Amino acid sequence: MATQKKRNKSKVRPALKKSARKVVKLSSARKASSKKAANGHGLAKASTKPYGKAGLALQGVRILDFTHVQSGPTCTQLLAYMGADVIKVERPGAGDITRGQLRDVPNADSLYFTMLNGSKRSITIDSKHPKGMEILNRLIKTCDVLVENFAPGALDRMGLTWEYVHKLNPRMIVASVKGFGPGPYEDCKVYENVAQCAGGAASTTGFREGPPLVTGAQIGDSGTGLHLALGIVSALYQRIRTGRGQRVLCAMQDGVLNLARVKLRDQQRLAHGPLTEYSQYGEGVPFGKAVPRAGNDSGGGQPGWIVKCKGWESDPDAYLYFITQAPVWEAICDVIGEPTWKTDPHFATPKARLPRLKQIFARIEQFTMTMTKFEAMDLFNKHDIPCGPILSMKEIAEEQSLRATGTIVEVDHPIRGKYLTVGNPIKLSDSPADVRRSPLLGEHTDEILIKVLGYSPKQLAEIKASGAITAPEKTEKAA
Ligand code: COA
Repeated sequence: MATQKKRNKSKVRPALKKSARKVVKLSSARKASSKKAANGHGLAKASTKPYGKAGLALQGVRILDFTHVQSGPTCTQLLAYMGADVIKVERPGAGDITRGQLRDVPNADSLYFTMLNGSKRSITIDSKHPKGMEILNRLIKTCDVLVENFAPGALDRMGLTWEYVHKLNPRMIVASVKGFGPGPYEDCKVYENVAQCAGGAASTTGFREGPPLVTGAQIGDSGTGLHLALGIVSALYQRIRTGRGQRVLCAMQDGVLNLARVKLRDQQRLAHGPLTEYSQYGEGVPFGKAVPRAGNDSGGGQPGWIVKCKGWESDPDAYLYFITQAPVWEAICDVIGEPTWKTDPHFATPKARLPRLKQIFARIEQFTMTMTKFEAMDLFNKHDIPCGPILSMKEIAEEQSLRATGTIVEVDHPIRGKYLTVGNPIKLSDSPADVRRSPLLGEHTDEILIKVLGYSPKQLAEIKASGAITAPEKTEKAA
């Protein structure tokens, strides 16, 4: 053993040395490039300002936000948190349909809207009005990215084809969410659960005996919005080199499939035999041709399951996710009071345990039912055993550590008052998240027309009179 270790050491050393040499080379390359920067060759010199005081990551990026409902707004809200100036274009008088959906406070924008449109500015423009199109043209010239998630063809019907936008502003990135990519369903409208079903998540979620199940996490909408944000930031980065914009497309089906990739992995593994880590294997139930629903089985190589904790009879969330991670198997046996399982050939190895997972989790559950999920969490983690309490949304909303990190933020709204929103889940050490309340419908219309687009007060009055930025009813009354 000792010789083996020595051998490994001597093998590792030269490799380390080699990579160390690489590091030296890289850092001297960086030094050289920062010298270049100092000489005015493009790259910025390292800021000497304290971290968090050198501006936000996307400062200077202006987004023409044509998004609505959830997928697109998730994307642009994240970009706004990162410092982009997001100008949300909404239909006069109506706005994003979610302003009025699932309302909890009469006459106030719903939480559906407010939690997806924070840190943005709102301008109302009727894109089908000639004056409205004139304003949009000016916005296109001044913005870096146009983001939209209309039904297929809607943007083109407005006249804002890629060719048109690109001609007006060759640097403009046009980013879209659609339900499906090119193919048989490309013209279809799509909502969250349709994407979950078409992306392979629903057929692999739920219990084997039951129907397909959708998950509460909005992997179709918010998940695709996140994908789109990455596409936009990448396109902005490429534009530094090429000087030109490009189209970015994220299909919700593709986004869901990307998140469900482990199931496509399992589909291919099926050709080579049963999926032994699925509890159905241990139960002796044969596999069919497609990946089955796996209940609460872990999606990875370490078997896991949800077990009851004290109070489960009355508390629907008194449960714990428990993972029988192989490296801590002996600790698990000791803690749950089954020390003989450490050496018993039926339990001692991961392979031997696979057909007995049901029995193992039943024993673990017997143990966890004697304590609360939080007590279980504390106890198992002392032994480095991975597990997690099933947290209710109430518990999450009240969790102070999530407030402290800015993952949950309380903001104040002029009509609805204080509400909780999800802050930036991505933490940048030099770019604190800019999390502010959502705008009222058209709150920034005048400000954007005058300060961003340079219209004079007289022109603003003309635009208002034209009906391009006000609701038809109001225009009629005014006339
Ligand atoms: N001024 C004038 N008209 C406007 C406008 C404005 N400021 N903003 C939008 N509109 C019009 C559009 O021009 C379009 O009209 P048209 O159909 O006559 O061309 C219409 O409003 C928008 O329509 P659409 O996107 O079809 O809305 P919808 O409510 O019928 O469908 C979705 C909603 C979400 C199903 C659909 O937009 C969609 O499939 N989007 C892509 C996938 C997606 O993002 N889904 C998830 C949403 S969370």
